[in-house]
Amino acid sequence: MSEFAKRMEVMEEAALAIKNAFSAATNPQTISFTLGSIAKECLPVDKFKEIVDDIMTKEGRGFELLSYGPVAGIKDLRDVVVTELLAPKGVQAEADNILILTGGLEAMNLMCQLYIEPGDVILVESPTFFHSVEIFRMFEAECIPVAMDENGMIVEELEEKIKKYNPKMVYVIPTFQNPTGITLSLERRKKIAELGSKYNVIILEDDPYRDIRYSGEDLLPIKAFDKTGHTVMANSFSKIFSPGSRIGYIYANDEIIAKMTDAKSATNSHTSMLPQAVCAEFFKRGYYPAQHKLLCDVHRGRRDAMLESIDKYFPKEAKRTSPDGGLFTWVELPEYMNAEELLKESLASPDINVAFISGEAFFSEGGKGSNCMRLSFGANTPEQTKTGIERLGKLIKSKLR
Ligand SMILES: Cc1ncc(COP(=O)(O)O)c(C=O)c1O
Repeated sequence: MSEFAKRMEVMEEAALAIKNAFSAATNPQTISFTLGSIAKECLPVDKFKEIVDDIMTKEGRGFELLSYGPVAGIKDLRDVVVTELLAPKGVQAEADNILILTGGLEAMNLMCQLYIEPGDVILVESPTFFHSVEIFRMFEAECIPVAMDENGMIVEELEEKIKKYNPKMVYVIPTFQNPTGITLSLERRKKIAELGSKYNVIILEDDPYRDIRYSGEDLLPIKAFDKTGHTVMANSFSKIFSPGSRIGYIYANDEIIAKMTDAKSATNSHTSMLPQAVCAEFFKRGYYPAQHKLLCDVHRGRRDAMLESIDKYFPKEAKRTSPDGGLFTWVELPEYMNAEELLKESLASPDINVAFISGEAFFSEGGKGSNCMRLSFGANTPEQTKTGIERLGKLIKSKLR
């Protein structure tokens, strides 16, 4: 048989972490803190059905939605992005600068199609989202880490590494970052936009969690400070509407959108019509404010349950982040502990059986994070979280030296 392309080997490690996360999440015996999913109570099943029943008729939009559609995405959804999602966040966009995508992750894929030659450098946060790294590696990019602190990516180090490596892109998840839950400070947002312009490098701002904030003040996105078009904003409807609908979007300048439209056309013609139309209609019918409140109320409770349980059941040597929103908490255990081994032991013991993602998967540089874990709090009720963290806490305490 023909040989597989080299890229299939380089992306193997990141791909395995994703497969493991999904398999733990689908075992009904396991309490799983693996996936970045929103609560199923927040999926708008009834409203979705109501809208489909209304619009999928021959007189209505049935023929349009079952036909080929525009590469850029349907106009009413692009308008929704501009008026309902970007304008309230201080970003004044035109619908022509929005491209609707098949899930937010497609942004990373298309950006690589546009910019990445094998060996090109992408600067990423350390740690960062492994699914994006999987895509970057598929394009044979070299991911170089930039350290973070409690205010996000450290901009002094970023500037040094831009000078040193001449990267094609800087990949940043500014709000309630995956995996740490950390939010990039306002000052650093401004600075990163400036660095993009100063060094002529693309800033890929991936911000799918920004709308699910449970405490603290909203911050303007990096894109709001971009005066030269170097920042490209990627976003998703997965955390505010439905991940299974696979809709996301990108906002960029004319030149980038034109190229990306060509790349999208060559990749999958356009995003599925029905979910786009239902999502647009959901916003146009005024359902989003109540949906947004529900999302924040439910996940605030789940976050609180996670943080309180960690404080109560984990040993005091464990350090955790304090996310103001999103779906993740990051825990650092004493250095001598190995999270991957804990995970294996947890899954092999029927009276523990709790899954999480061990930290190493999130470090593009390898060899780091073995004492860390990402705990997602979106998919479990507060009671399940309490039970899971109590069980995990016992296991961790048994390893204390
Ligand atoms: C940081 C980040 N970017 C992008 C995505 C992509 O989401 P989707 O492709 O489901 O829209 C996710 C999903 O978990 C994410 O955490």
